[in-house]
Amino acid sequence: MSSNTSTLTVDNKAVELAVKEGTLGPSVIDISKLYGQSGMFTYDPGFTSTASCESKITYIDGDQGILLYRGYPIEQLAEHGDFLETCYLLLYGELPTAAQKADFDYRVTRHTMVHDQMNRFFTGFRRDAHPMAIMVGCVGALSAFYHDSTDISDPHQRMVASMRMIAKMPTLAAMAYKYHVGQPFVYPMNDLDYTSNFLRMCFAVPAEEYKVNPVLSRALDRIFILHADHEQNASTSTVRLAGSSGANPFACIAAGIACLWGPAHGGANEAALKMLEEIGTPDRIPEYIARAKDKNDPFRLMGFGHRVYKNYDPRARIMQRTTHEVLNELGIKDDPLLDVAMELEQIALKDEYFVEKKLYPNIDFYSGITLKAMGFPTSMFTVLFALARTVGWIAQWSEMIEDPSQRIGRPRQLYTGSPRREYVTVAQRG
Ligand code: SDX
Repeated sequence: MSSNTSTLTVDNKAVELAVKEGTLGPSVIDISKLYGQSGMFTYDPGFTSTASCESKITYIDGDQGILLYRGYPIEQLAEHGDFLETCYLLLYGELPTAAQKADFDYRVTRHTMVHDQMNRFFTGFRRDAHPMAIMVGCVGALSAFYHDSTDISDPHQRMVASMRMIAKMPTLAAMAYKYHVGQPFVYPMNDLDYTSNFLRMCFAVPAEEYKVNPVLSRALDRIFILHADHEQNASTSTVRLAGSSGANPFACIAAGIACLWGPAHGGANEAALKMLEEIGTPDRIPEYIARAKDKNDPFRLMGFGHRVYKNYDPRARIMQRTTHEVLNELGIKDDPLLDVAMELEQIALKDEYFVEKKLYPNIDFYSGITLKAMGFPTSMFTVLFALARTVGWIAQWSEMIEDPSQRIGRPRQLYTGSPRREYVTVAQRG
């Protein structure tokens, strides 16, 4: 990484700041010494122009609609690989050899069971509890069961915790779904691949044998690849900030799940499907486009727009193709929700408001249609996002912990509150 300098003039005083160049994308101005040299902070609510860290994991070019995991294009990974291969790549930085892949699959598979005491943890929830509420609680609770992998200073314990998180998220997600629908929990089977195991834990019932549909399993595995990591998004930044204090990995992932739940972030897939259902038919689309453009209306087109992508989200294209593949496999000839989504996309992409603001469909626009067709209730959509993103959170968390320069994250502020004033007794307050 080459570096040069940039000069900032503050109160007629020149402050020299180092400029660092990366492999791809914008260079950065290192402002870590700015406060010491100028007595001033930078100000960037929402971090639109702020790089919070250095990372080698994922690269996004928002203008070109490019997404690379460790340098490999998402389109190629989704086409040729599987989710556990992507997990290995994100965690270790290289695609695995056949032997490494077999060993990784074996290790993940043998961590898929959860402590049986977890079953009783679920019974504390109402049956109609949102599955994301259950996931935040249960993932945080894992740190109560696995004390032997919470010492973040021990690389072995960090590796075990990483395996446990990746392996147990499908089991917990399936348990959250089963609890929600009032069916008995289904235990993982070691002779099934990762995603087939998850589908069976969700949809098998004791009354009959469950046969995994390989087309649906492959489609869902590809959906997990698309959701695996995405640079320093809100939930990943939450995991990094929580981890910077030395909190254990299970607690950090629980914090990431909580952040992902928001409708502006991972909760958008649930919100986007509800929006498509509310629109109902293509003839009602103009009314919602008008609302999305109305400054006085808080309504936004869910599944549209992105902080980084000012072009088509490359994941959305693959997602749209997967939607058609799943609907064809399930014999769903004309899904009214897909009709509304396709028409809405066509209208929005021609509308000057969306063109001018560079608002394109993002990964959440089509995912809900696919997941609903597979049999998942809307409330499970963000849980599946969290399941897939766990490997990204873990990889980013590990990178931060292993970075010798990492310190606790502690932003400052622009204070606009009251200057110092003296206490007034209640008798004097009038
Ligand atoms: C994810 O960061 C990531 O990488 C996230 C993610 C990941 O993989 O981790 O990609 C996953 O979270 C995808 C995004 C899912 N969210 C949604 O689909 C919710 C709807 N989209 C928006 O709320 C919004 O686009 C955001 C939150 C995604 C981005 O918000 P920004 O970057 O803060 O943009 P903004 O809100 O400042 O919007 C810029 C302008 C505004 O108009 P002006 O005030 O400039 O006049 O565009 C408008 C917004 O009003 N706008 C929209 C819109 N999104 C932005 N108008 C209508 N509908 C929308 N969806």
